[in-house]
Amino acid sequence: MEKVVITDQAANALMQTLDHGQFTSIAILVDENTHIHCYPLIKHHLPEHTLIQIKSGEIHKNIETCISIWNVLTEQSFDRQGLLINLGGGVIGDMGGFCARTYKRGIAFINVPTTLLAQVDASVGGKLGIDFEHLKNHIGLFSEPDQVIIDPVFLKTLPDNELRSGYAEVIKHHLIADGKGWDRMKNSHFEEMNWKEVIEHSVKMKYGVAQKDPTEKGLRKILNFGHTVGHAVESYLMQEGRAILHGEAVAVGMVAEAYISNTRDLISAGDLTDIQGYIQGLYPKAKLSARDIEAIGKYAVQDKKNKGKRILAALLNGVGNAVWDIEISGKEIDQSLRYYVDQT
Ligand SMILES: NC(=O)c1ccc[n+]([C@@H]2O[C@H](COP(=O)([O-])OP(=O)(O)OC[C@H]3O[C@@H](n4cnc5c(N)ncnc54)[C@H](O)[C@@H]3O)[C@@H](O)[C@H]2O)c1
Ligand SMILES: [Zn+2]
Repeated sequence: MEKVVITDQAANALMQTLDHGQFTSIAILVDENTHIHCYPLIKHHLPEHTLIQIKSGEIHKNIETCISIWNVLTEQSFDRQGLLINLGGGVIGDMGGFCARTYKRGIAFINVPTTLLAQVDASVGGKLGIDFEHLKNHIGLFSEPDQVIIDPVFLKTLPDNELRSGYAEVIKHHLIADGKGWDRMKNSHFEEMNWKEVIEHSVKMKYGVAQKDPTEKGLRKILNFGHTVGHAVESYLMQEGRAILHGEAVAVGMVAEAYISNTRDLISAGDLTDIQGYIQGLYPKAKLSARDIEAIGKYAVQDKKNKGKRILAALLNGVGNAVWDIEISGKEIDQSLRYYVDQT
């Protein structure tokens, strides 16, 4: 955890880190949104640096954008003692980290995540990478940032739907690892959230799991709860031109996978109702027809975490606990999505 600082003084924390490092050059990576909303909060505290701006969005998380980043570093004669500061959401963090760790066999990088998703999920665990020909995170590596500085102040300018999307991972962290926390959460109000506490809870939880299983051989797979069905929903709707946010899809996936957990007597009907009700109160309902549900089943089979044609998922085993590598069938996914659709 020593590399992760959660603070309401991001600029000071960053200055301290820079004081301790012996960096020959510093670059800061932003997109057009974090340039406007986040960069002004720290720029006056930074020593001389190069600003690298890329276009926002997952579609730019690719090798062309990396080339543009490597080009700037090269033109500015960055040597191996250079530093890249990634100021942005998960796209900036994953791709900036990838560019840093491959430029001249690796330079230092600091992540300053500015979306809730990047703060509670992408900030920990060392996954870096880019998309490749429509395959998400297909090229990449595991490597921890040299420092992560998290400040809830950045969330103030984040659009509400992005904030809620990131919050899906927070719900997940409670459902898989903190039953008592879930009891508090299900009675809480989203508008009154203490974001610093929320972030601290999630980072601690994810850090603990990632440290026990850095390369996702076993335990870390509990973090996939909601994601087997969620990814399938996300990919299908994107391909249909009806894209929803990652967290919105994971919200659907968590209801579906909680349903499957209940049909296997792993959680009670009351727990399922609580989970479904809480999630339904926070997210727009995904519109899924019978034809959609059938197609989503097919996407689940293609999920890269599966072995062969078997669909493997993490399920709840009591609320606050999870099991992984559980085979589920296309039929169960079908039923679970019909349950999701039938709830009013
Ligand atoms: N490395 C990991 O472990 C990990 C975990 C989860 C997700 N990810 C990756 O993260 C990416 C998604 O991250 P994301 O949801 O942060 O998306 P994102 O980086 O695309 O950011 C979402 C949008 O918010 C804008 N934005 C960012 N900060 C802002 C702020 N403070 N105020 C206003 N606007 C702001 C961005 O410009 C963008 O338009 C995916 O590529 C995913 O693969 C990685
Ligand atoms: Zn996720």
